[in-house]
Amino acid sequence: MLKFFDSSYSCKVLIELPITNDDYIMLKSLFSKNYISWSLEFGRVYSVDSNILNLLYDEIYGNNKNISIITHKNKLNRYFHKMGFKTTFKSLIKDDVLDIEKIEIVLVGGSADSSPKIIDIIKSIEFKNISLVIVQHIQIGKDYIFNDVLKEYTNNKIFYCYDGMKIEKGYIYLAPSNKHLKVVDGFFYLSDENSYNGAKPSISISYESFSNYYKNRLLVIQECGYANDGVDKLKLLKENDSKLIIQTEKECSAKSMVTKASVIKIHDYILSIKDIIIYITILNKNLTKDGWIEYLLNMVYKRYDYNFKLYYNDMLRRRIDIFMTKYNISSVKNMVAIVLFNRSVFKGFFLEISINVTELFREPATFKNFIKIIEKNYKNRHNIKIWSAGCSSGEETYSIAIILDKLGLLEKSIVYATDFNCVIVEEAKNGIYANKSFLIAQDNLDTIGFEIKLDNYFRKNSCFIEINEKIKEKTMFFQHNLIEDSSFNEFDIIICKNVIIYFERELQERVFQLFYDSLKFGGYLIIGEKETLLESFSENFLQSEYNSNIFKKVS
Ligand SMILES: C[S@@+](CC[C@H](N)C(=O)[O-])C[C@H]1O[C@@H](n2cnc3c(N)ncnc32)[C@H](O)[C@@H]1O
Repeated sequence: MLKFFDSSYSCKVLIELPITNDDYIMLKSLFSKNYISWSLEFGRVYSVDSNILNLLYDEIYGNNKNISIITHKNKLNRYFHKMGFKTTFKSLIKDDVLDIEKIEIVLVGGSADSSPKIIDIIKSIEFKNISLVIVQHIQIGKDYIFNDVLKEYTNNKIFYCYDGMKIEKGYIYLAPSNKHLKVVDGFFYLSDENSYNGAKPSISISYESFSNYYKNRLLVIQECGYANDGVDKLKLLKENDSKLIIQTEKECSAKSMVTKASVIKIHDYILSIKDIIIYITILNKNLTKDGWIEYLLNMVYKRYDYNFKLYYNDMLRRRIDIFMTKYNISSVKNMVAIVLFNRSVFKGFFLEISINVTELFREPATFKNFIKIIEKNYKNRHNIKIWSAGCSSGEETYSIAIILDKLGLLEKSIVYATDFNCVIVEEAKNGIYANKSFLIAQDNLDTIGFEIKLDNYFRKNSCFIEINEKIKEKTMFFQHNLIEDSSFNEFDIIICKNVIIYFERELQERVFQLFYDSLKFGGYLIIGEKETLLESFSENFLQSEYNSNIFKKVS
């Protein structure tokens, strides 16, 4: 999707996904016009294809066009940099959703149908570092009953507010009926004014008073209820920099309060009660940096099904620091809330911490044995099917294809390549690498002792190298998760290097089972040089004569 705005001398182009061939043609035609400068802004775009990279290269380096590139996704920024382009990264995270560190009071406003949600909050959280104030429309005479009910669910102290009562951390406070609840200098103040919005206590009056006093130290939770009390003061919350979470409409039988609140569109989040509880839990927690990282990894596993728990080491800590600096996030606690509650930030986090290190002809000793296996066992086969699993940006896959070509076997071969990271799969399809990759490849080939003229396989320019079409045509890249997804073909050889090293035993069991199911009888499984086969598979895979990381399927 491409939009542009131009004047007689400059052109600003905004690019969002999906980027179609028509967008590419349009971009090309914009570069052919006589502007003095072009500004390209990539929105929620994580990768670009080789056509765009080549077009930018030709225009910037070939035609000396004055083109500035702005990216909003760190991953794309890094990719451009690797390929020799100068870019500017601007985070899309709104500064005002960031700072939850300061919040010290949570004010829940609700009416009909809000009690079960409030009970859920109270029974799930032990309030320590923040206080909870509940302003509900409750029938006169029934309020003291609610107090008794709540006490059954919590060890926290619960009080009905009285005039002049000091507000303290770790306590739960209820607004009494027939008075409006306000705050003055950190003390409750009960007012006898007339009903407002037909209510007393009025949620609007409390929102106004608490937000004016606490400003960015206040989080309001808008719960279910009929009518619209509270809604007319939501804009004021925004002006005061107070935070607002709205209970998701589908969990309310009395919907009008939350529906009207969400229409104003100034909320930070609309969440289920389960997520509201997680959010308040984060606010209420005080952990060390390591404690927060451990909490985050556990929650990421639960919410997004990605298990990074074993990545937990110095490298992960360093990557998290880089992620926070890039996204301008001030504290680990903020980072945890942002990653857990913003899917697109989670994607950035995932891309920052996943380990994609790879190179052309990496682990040359293994490639040397791979060549021997092919020459001895596969030269006379009609077809050869190879799976490069956990292929990262594709260097391993293209190395395999280049070797097959050099041995004269590429025509009858196909190399399937998979990774669970969809952005890295797009990069792999491009087959474009920084120039220094060429030198690394040459070094590794020298170690293997296999003579290949790399110039036959890569097109070179002053910034990057690009794998040729003949090799690309024989490789197929797609997203596949070794833990979640099933077998998709039967292969002669499976190469999965430097992937299972990050998995705990239970996950390794699943992956070896998948490889067993996906390999032909007599086929070869090649793992990384630092990786080992699980004992439980020693009857299925026999260590080959070639090397300790190469196995033959024997049963
Ligand atoms: C360190 S790279 C190894 C790349 C290449 N095999 C090599 O040895 O050079 C590990 C790759 O495994 C991928 N990966 C990690 N967990 C995965 C999973 N569950 N399913 C598929 N790929 C995974 C990562 O995205 C990453 O690209």
